Amino acid sequence: HNFKDITIEGRPYKTDSWMNTPASILSSIPRRLHLQPDHPISLTRQLIESHFPGFTYHNDLFPIVSVAQNFDSLNFPPDHPGRSRTDTYYINRDTVLRTHTSAHQADTFRANENSGFLISADVYRRDAVDRSHYPVFHQMEGAKTWNRNDPTSHSTLAAQIWADVAALPTHSMQVSDPSPTIDPEHNPLQSAHHTAEEVEAMAAHLKRSLENVVISIFTAARAASASPSDQPPQDREPLQMRWVTAYFPFTSPSWELEVLWQDTWLEVLGCGIISHSILSAADQPSRLGWAFGVGLERIAMLLFSIPDIRLFWSKDPRFLSQFSAAGEMKRFVPFSKHPACFKDVSFWVKGTSSAAGGLGGSVSGEGGFHENDVMEIARDVAGDLVEDVRLVDEFSHPKTGRRSLCYRVNYRSLERTLTNVESNELHERFRQQLVERLGVELR
Ligand code: PHE
Repeated sequence: HNFKDITIEGRPYKTDSWMNTPASILSSIPRRLHLQPDHPISLTRQLIESHFPGFTYHNDLFPIVSVAQNFDSLNFPPDHPGRSRTDTYYINRDTVLRTHTSAHQADTFRANENSGFLISADVYRRDAVDRSHYPVFHQMEGAKTWNRNDPTSHSTLAAQIWADVAALPTHSMQVSDPSPTIDPEHNPLQSAHHTAEEVEAMAAHLKRSLENVVISIFTAARAASASPSDQPPQDREPLQMRWVTAYFPFTSPSWELEVLWQDTWLEVLGCGIISHSILSAADQPSRLGWAFGVGLERIAMLLFSIPDIRLFWSKDPRFLSQFSAAGEMKRFVPFSKHPACFKDVSFWVKGTSSAAGGLGGSVSGEGGFHENDVMEIARDVAGDLVEDVRLVDEFSHPKTGRRSLCYRVNYRSLERTLTNVESNELHERFRQQLVERLGVELR
């Protein structure tokens, strides 16, 4: 094999057999939506930043990182599914497009420039095609640490952290948080490094800080949507939030914050007490603290009532101009919704396999077939003209054991009505690419 060297924004990279990043993904690197003035992702970033005075902001860290930064430094085990080429974009065996902003935690701790930092950046994941998933999205990482050997301190560390908790703004909302902070089995204390009291104090600081952010965002969203055509405010559901126990390889204890939005609990962020091994590997063995990671698209979609994640990538001034009023939150006014165009494709997967996944689940076969490959081909062929790709039928032939899948694609532009000729051509190319790249047999 002959693998090309490539250059991305002036930086040279060797590729190898691990390379699986299409040109369409690389071409989104320069967009930097989180830095575009008046872009809703950028406005959301600034709104969250305003809740963390005194923190250092990092908003231009390069998206191509080492496997060591993205996974190893964060204690991901060697067989963690997140490392697989079906989930992550690789440039070569040792180099990936970051899958989360946590990839920069270790380096930022090592620089030890401030006790608190925020990192906002584009992140990349191979994933489903629908109105809330896009292979490029944005996260904000936050972290705050305290130094056990702080020379200016005259009290215990726990007392010092509780004093910082007391200095945070308060709110009057009831937030459901039924689980104990520390659960020896599911959410253990790092007992070699922390006392239970220190963790209780850090957890209180973390939770109060994040509750304040979410309350202010939802309050802004509600104010923006309080137009005469909406329900009167007294009829609307009050904001509801809850803390749930979570697991990440790089925090313990860990939590997720969920918000009730239109009758479903949405996970809006993950967080926890930083694994001590990360701080000590970054030459900060006397520090301890919390970290969180929040998805900016999800927050922005709630904040501005944006119905489709592709809109963030639109260059249509009818979208972008809606957010230009500095400081004031406006509800997004959708421009006319163009007709959907549904087309099905059915095929036999190469090889045989036992029943897998099931409708809506992840279809990953031992024969090397992975649903994310179907998703990527759809994106590659149709770009932002594909709204949704979903598995609608699946069966295994009783005699031969061969597996048949049927996917339904919704082609729809956000900006205009597609012609029949156009959608037929897109779908025909999609079918051919499935054959060429995945070796499936069309039915
Ligand atoms: N990086 C995690 C994710 O992408 C979120 C996270 C960040 C969790 C920091 C804990 C601490 O899901």
